[in-house]
Amino acid sequence: MRLLFLGDMVGKAGRTAVWEQLPGLISDYRLDFVIVNGENAAGGFGITEQIFHATIEAGADVVTTGNHVWDQRDALNFAPREDRFLRPANFPKGTPGKGAGLYIARNGARVMVANIMGRVFMHPELDDPFQAGEQELAACPLGEQADAVVIDFHAEATSEKMCFAHFVDGRASLVVGTHTHQPTADHQILNGGTAYISDAGMCGDYDSSLGMDKEEPLNRFLSKVPKGRFEAANGPATLCGVGVDISDRTGLAERVAPFRRGPRLEETVPSFWA
Ligand SMILES: [Fe+2]
Ligand SMILES: [Fe+2]
Repeated sequence: MRLLFLGDMVGKAGRTAVWEQLPGLISDYRLDFVIVNGENAAGGFGITEQIFHATIEAGADVVTTGNHVWDQRDALNFAPREDRFLRPANFPKGTPGKGAGLYIARNGARVMVANIMGRVFMHPELDDPFQAGEQELAACPLGEQADAVVIDFHAEATSEKMCFAHFVDGRASLVVGTHTHQPTADHQILNGGTAYISDAGMCGDYDSSLGMDKEEPLNRFLSKVPKGRFEAANGPATLCGVGVDISDRTGLAERVAPFRRGPRLEETVPSFWA
């Protein structure tokens, strides 16, 4: 099966680019399953119910999030009733919503998606992500209840992301890092067959600081005195993510490659999708 993961949509530029382009990507590349991280979709901070629905309508099967999940308080209300909306699984017990789900792809495959947040340099600091991964994999093992397993590991430190991927190697189809908004060039298939990339990058305006207007972040580095709010940058967005072909037989990764489309970064499409 063929899966596309798109990194954090940032602001109006990011989300509209995803909404406009995703239907075409799904038909052009005959995608079986699409996951989009939406934690920054509302002005850079959180996601609203309306934005969530529009992303699903554009063709995303699941919307994942991260540390910004509750920035729009509305998410606390819709998270519990939206099966395709995930927040990190390692929030404390009793947190609204859920951190993993099982979904049916366009080719009929059962895809387990889990959203887990790292703890190194991350706020809030959640429960042990390794234990959370273990729990989600035990509840829905690859090759038994699931034909494919994707984990969006939302974290700052590449060491934590890499170690988590080694920890679940052979038990997941893909571990994809999110949160830094900068795509990395270390996509690979680990020894046990799990595809990995440290960060998918973002869907947003790259003429920015991580998708935000660059003026205020720069000001805070220079002066330490806030002059204004962080605002999402509104120039043309570049979509960033990763494409994976997953074996229908084993659920492990056969190929992995980055996906980038837009005016700012060098464009690339997985060669095995041609
Ligand atoms: Fe983000
Ligand atoms: Fe984040």
